[in-house]
Amino acid sequence: MRKEFEEIKKDSIKKIEKAKDREELEKSKVFYLGRKGKLTLLLKSLKDLAVEGKKEWGPKLNQFKKELGEIIKEKENNFSLVLKDKRRDLTMPGKKIKRGSLHPLTIVEEKILEIFKSMNFSVVLGPEVESEFYNFDALNIPEYHPAREMWDTFWLKDKDKEDRKLLMRTHTSPVQIRFMEQNKPPFQIVVPGRVFRYEATDASHETNFYQVEGLMVGKDISLANLKFVIEEFLNKFFGKKLDFRFRPSYFPFVEPGIEVDIKLPGKDKWLEVMGAGMVHPKVLKMGGISLTEGWQGFAFGMGVERLTMLKYNIPDIRLFYSGDLRFIKQF
Ligand code: DAH
Repeated sequence: MRKEFEEIKKDSIKKIEKAKDREELEKSKVFYLGRKGKLTLLLKSLKDLAVEGKKEWGPKLNQFKKELGEIIKEKENNFSLVLKDKRRDLTMPGKKIKRGSLHPLTIVEEKILEIFKSMNFSVVLGPEVESEFYNFDALNIPEYHPAREMWDTFWLKDKDKEDRKLLMRTHTSPVQIRFMEQNKPPFQIVVPGRVFRYEATDASHETNFYQVEGLMVGKDISLANLKFVIEEFLNKFFGKKLDFRFRPSYFPFVEPGIEVDIKLPGKDKWLEVMGAGMVHPKVLKMGGISLTEGWQGFAFGMGVERLTMLKYNIPDIRLFYSGDLRFIKQF
């Protein structure tokens, strides 16, 4: 009796603790406590013992039967699928953790900057509230110049410390002047940032959008360098070999000014993607760069929304600012 009991005691607890699922647990339960279970049979055999034996083993066996029952129950609770006492069901699949995602404009801006950084450009920032001087005058767009009409402007009531009129910058170009004032050439920079236009909105116009400006100044920087850098950038950005068209255009801060068109493989439409040109001597001068030392350079400016729309086939610029998660989550 003693030997059998000790063996059952040891093995049963071990077996039950090792059970990996409900099924295994149920099997062990039947094995020991079922109608023909080991412990059940042992209990039944009590009747064959002498009175002394019954007295000694009866309570011991019954006590252990109770204990074993409790251990099994505890384990069953852990495995249980439906629990009346509201304990957690450890076998249920976990809740999915929802992760946020980057806005498509953020993804594209990062991509643009990454490509330019790989070409040794530095990233520079400037203020969104800008003075009339930096946004217009220093870029060769004096007051009453008709070119000012290219940039419908949100004017602010306040003026800056030097009593200059303030506005929400209409482009990132003023950062060219700010950077030239503070730095000696040669240099090459890109300037990402938010810009503002006092315009009616439609599928391709927003009152605020993002641009990336570029500026490279050196001793013999030419249109050839401009062409190479821009083609290299656009091919990398779209991940395809594109067709290019450099068209003469007009911007007051460059001479000559050009507009860059691309044609995506398999498409037959030319798409305008950025303005550019050789920095106007007056603009270099306003930035404090000496012309007699032979410095010259190129500049370019592109709309981040436009590039994003072309890359991902997005039909309406207003989607970017709709806050619609069904749109945002696709990126
Ligand atoms: N600032 C221009 C705009 O907002 C874009 C631009 C054109 C920037 C030509 C440049 C440039 O630097 O050279 O429309």
